[in-house]
Formats: sequence, C-alpha cells, structure tokens
Amino acid sequence: MNFPSLFSPLQVGPYRLDHRVMMAPLTRMRAEKPSLAPRPLNAEYYAQRATTGGLLIAEATPVLPTGHGNAGVPGVYSEAQVKGWRAVVDAVHAKGGLIFLQLWHVGRVSHSSFQPGGVLPVSCSAVPISTGLKTLTADGKPASYETPRALEASEIPGIVDGFRQAASNALKAGFDGVEIHGANGYLLEQFLQSRTNRRTDRYGGSIVNRARLLIEITEAVIGVWGASRVGVRLSPYGIANDSGETDPMPLYSHVVEALNPLGLAYLHFIEPRSSGSGRAEVNHQNVPSAMLLFRPLWKGVLITAGGFSGEMAEAAVAEGHADAIAFGRIFISNPDLPRRLREGLPLTPYNRATFYGGEEKGYTDYPVYGELERA
Ligand code: FNR
Repeated sequence: MNFPSLFSPLQVGPYRLDHRVMMAPLTRMRAEKPSLAPRPLNAEYYAQRATTGGLLIAEATPVLPTGHGNAGVPGVYSEAQVKGWRAVVDAVHAKGGLIFLQLWHVGRVSHSSFQPGGVLPVSCSAVPISTGLKTLTADGKPASYETPRALEASEIPGIVDGFRQAASNALKAGFDGVEIHGANGYLLEQFLQSRTNRRTDRYGGSIVNRARLLIEITEAVIGVWGASRVGVRLSPYGIANDSGETDPMPLYSHVVEALNPLGLAYLHFIEPRSSGSGRAEVNHQNVPSAMLLFRPLWKGVLITAGGFSGEMAEAAVAEGHADAIAFGRIFISNPDLPRRLREGLPLTPYNRATFYGGEEKGYTDYPVYGELERA
C-alpha cells in the first residue's frame, strides 16, 4: 500500500486540506482583559500562521466561566468573545486557511481566584493535584492548587450544556469546526481516569461510566455541528497536571471504540514524548506511542502531536502511522512552518519565556523565512 506524504492532500470531514502540517492548540494567554475576548493582536497571530488549505486548531477556550484556570485565556460564552473570535476566523479565512476551536474546561486545574464568587474549582471528585505543582492566582501570585469540589450529579447536565452552548457560539463565530479537549489532566480527563474519578454514580467506577461524560459531551457537540466537523483530543499516556492512568490501554481502547461509530472529523493524540506546555523542556525517551497503539483501533482520520520534527512527521505519515501531524512549539516560532518543512528551510528557535501572556514579543514578531527579525 502506498502512503501519502506530509504535503499531499487530506480529506477531513467536508474539508479537503492541501497538506498535513497542522497547528496544535496553544494557550498563549493574550486575550483582552477583563472581557477575555480575542483582540486584533490574536487575529494577526492566527492569520500569520494560516495557509491555503491548512488547518489551525485555536487555543483551548473555556466553555463556561468556571472553566478558566489561567489569566488572559479567551472564553467563548459571551457576545464580546464571539465577536472577537469572528475577527480571528475572518482573518484566517482571508488567507484561505481553516480553523477549529478547542473547547475546554480545566476542572481542578484552576484556583478559586478565577471562579465566579471566589468559590472552589469543580472537578469530578474532591481530589487535589498532589504533585506539589504550583499555580498562579488570577492576579499572578504563586499559590498551591486547592482541593476541588466534586460536581453533584445534578450539575453534570450543566457542564454538557456549557459545551453545547459553546459549540453553538463557535458556529456563530464562523469556525470551521471544533475540537473537544479531553487531554492533559483537565476536566474531561479527570472524569476518564481512575486517579481522579472516585465517583460512585453513573459517571464513575467502570470504564464505561468514566467515559460517559466525554461521550455525552461529544454527542451534544455533534448535535450542533454534525460529526464531520468535530474532533476529540486525548493524551492516553500523558502525565500533565498530575494525570495518568496506571494501565491506559483498556480505558482508551474503550474510548476509541465508543467514538468510532460517531463518525468524527478526526481523533487527535498527544504523544507523551514532550511535556511541551510545562515550564521545562523535557523529552522523554522510550515512552509508548499513542499513534502506534491506537491506530489499529481508530477508523477515522488520526492526527498526532508531540515532539515531531519535519523528518519525523514525514516518516509518521509516509508509514501510515498518522494522517496528519500537529505542531506546537515550532509553530509558535515559525509562522510559515508548512513552507519551511516543505522546502527544508532552517527553523527559528522558540523562546519559552514568552509562551504565556504578554503582547507582540514572542507572539507576532517571529519572522517568516527570509525576513529580518523584527526589532
Ligand atoms: C500546549 N499544548 C496544549 N494542548 C492543548 O490541547 N490545548 C492547549 O491549549 C495547549 N496549550 C499549550 C501551550 C503551549 C505554550 C505549549 C507549548 C503546549 C500542547 C500542544 O498542543 C502540543 O501537544 C505539545 O506542545 C506537543 O507538541 P510540540 O510542541 O512538541 O510540537
């Protein structure tokens, strides 16, 4: 069988992409305050990274006010936010690109200073992050994570509705699709994994029960968008935010099998090689490969991400292990990444210090190839 190259077309739902170099969702914490609406600077950033027939996945975006855990993260639950996103989408479309929005709820990876009324963050169960990991409060002070409040069974439909309404808002903003954030230790993964799920109702205990919220939310979002414009992101072997299932294979095999019949646009993995979003640069060796393990089970388009160079991405696609590769850190510092990879051009290194928060520096001032570094 002949497998395609990174620069051959790919059908994703109704969209025919010109290439398979995607932009991974990246939290950059540069929305307008206090509205938490995207602003013109954000539209410029995404437009710089858009290419004809290329797919960008916009940063994780809380679906509800309770879903925030970091300052300056945009939401998608107010009119001003929808209007701000509309300008981002229009700027990407003007360059011929496609853009999906990643729908997020952080659950326990929050702090009461972000919560309406200053109450405790919610989670699946009252299990705190216990790795000693610290966070920042809404006004930027170092703090420990708190013990979250377990959602009452009667509150769970409100979370599903939050995702449904946010999906509908994303549709109003003109996005081409949405991705459900089921990865990296956030709320939906808190439900999935036994480490954080101590519930005894129909959302806890068995694997089927732990996966129930993710599936219900996926079905609700499909009700708004149709399945062919909805993706799901998972990190079966990740350890972000004190996550990690002792034996991920049974849990994630069930999730993949339960998602298969829904007919999604794609499934998107994070390979556990890099802790890319953390403060340090870590490249884990000899870790399991999500794409290799789950490719045989998944019937649709498979995207994966995590520590890929251009050569590794080309090999993964050519060998049929994934259909497309999403790039995070090197897309931050190379706005013209698809061209650089296609032509084998050198890459601009990224500056981790400017990943989160701030203005143009480290955001919209990375040059395209051949252009001088902007002062
Ligand atoms: C991330 N990552 C991430 N993942 C996600 O699902 N939603 C998000 O909003 C973010 N935010 C984020 C911010 C920053 C600054 C980094 C570096 C990472 C993870 C990201 O999408 C990707 O999976 C990893 O960065 C691994 O890919 P690379 O960077 O090795 O290509």
